Amino acid sequence: MDFLQIRGRRPLSGSVTISGAKNAALPLIAATILAREKVAISNLPDVKDIQTLLKLLDNLGARFEYGQNRAVIDTSAIESTVAKYDIVRTMRASILVLGPLLARFGHCEVSLPGGCAIGQRPIDLHLKAMERMGAEITIKSGYVVARAPKGLRGTTIIFDKITVTGTENVVMAAALAQGKTTIINPAKEPEVTQLCRVLKESGVEIEGIESDELTIYGTGGEPIEMVNISVIPDRIEAGTYLCAGAITNSQITVRECEPDHLEAVIVKLMEMGFPVEKGDGEITIYPTEKIYPVEIITSEYPGFPTDMQAQFMALSLLADGTSIIEERLFENRFMHASELMRFGATIQLKGSIATVIGPTKLYGADVMATDLRASSALVLAGLAAEGVTNVHRIYHLDRGYERLEKKLQGLGADIVRLKG
Ligand code: EPZ
Repeated sequence: MDFLQIRGRRPLSGSVTISGAKNAALPLIAATILAREKVAISNLPDVKDIQTLLKLLDNLGARFEYGQNRAVIDTSAIESTVAKYDIVRTMRASILVLGPLLARFGHCEVSLPGGCAIGQRPIDLHLKAMERMGAEITIKSGYVVARAPKGLRGTTIIFDKITVTGTENVVMAAALAQGKTTIINPAKEPEVTQLCRVLKESGVEIEGIESDELTIYGTGGEPIEMVNISVIPDRIEAGTYLCAGAITNSQITVRECEPDHLEAVIVKLMEMGFPVEKGDGEITIYPTEKIYPVEIITSEYPGFPTDMQAQFMALSLLADGTSIIEERLFENRFMHASELMRFGATIQLKGSIATVIGPTKLYGADVMATDLRASSALVLAGLAAEGVTNVHRIYHLDRGYERLEKKLQGLGADIVRLKG
């Protein structure tokens, strides 16, 4: 199995170009199921999760060309609506085909995604919403079996808990439903906003984008003429590279990003003492004399993103004092803490709160990735550690970071991918 080998404590410099956002690309690819004609999607990140979802569409009978960060997808030839276990189990975001398949074809079977390292990851809110829109939902041998023979009908959906892919599933289902669907308490992540904007530009009437109440007027089952799409930049990738600059106390610039999507992350970096400058499509971080401890509570957008929690835990190891990190979205998203302790960190975990004692002198170690963002936190710690770090199980990283070691090499890091 591949692993990354890092020789730490090298200053970084220069700039890094950010790829398209995996979590925007996934719902947009699923949304092509709603389209009558071919759809071109550019600025796709070249990561495993994108290939997995395209493979799922292929299994359903869709046709596509894919390469150079671009796909042209034709779902008019879909002849199956069964999203099989062997694919769904490798990527739980496959659940995003549920809404569009049900809306377009009136039936589908999607393997239950199951949990993952960071939590049980239920989909009860997705299923309840589909039932509210008139679908009959049953669970049979590990599959969600959904039927809506008369099509889906618009209604009011209240999300007691904000769910990103749950909102995306309902928006896509509502686009082809009969009548008006109002979603109260939708997710407002930039990735959800791009999906809504693309559907609106494709002729679906949508009001209240980025607000707490989203209204979608469905086409009554008519497929849509989807516009061509360019995926928004990946705010989590951008935040991860800003943390790479911070943890090595270097000046670096992240380019082709959207600074407005990173407000909460930038504020926290500045609270820790790092000067940060926002430019047009780019952000520069500068070294600091002293790294201050930080208090972080993860929450839905525009709050501090849970997908940046692990990276900030790694950075807080160097802070001169005690940092407190509260993870409010997932019940088990501190798996990286025990791996960070192998570098010499002192981290106390109590329920959803991690207390990080700094500053710590980090020493390179063999560590194991457990989930996508935890893996990036281990790479960050390796960049700051004395000596050699080997990060194993980097298939987690390859799901969501395009050419990570190449981009870090471009910034001057001593990092190579080796065969284990
Ligand atoms: C999306 O996951 C992202 N994935 C995650 O990114 C991200 O961490 C998460 O949103 C939160 O921002 C994609 O967009 C593909 P949720 P999602 O539904 O939609 C609970 C990464 O690293 N919940 O917003 O699955 C759930 O258990 C990944 O790229 C229910 O209880 O997250 C969690 O506690 C990791 N019932 C909370 O809501 C449901 O039916 C938020 O989950 C659905 C969710």
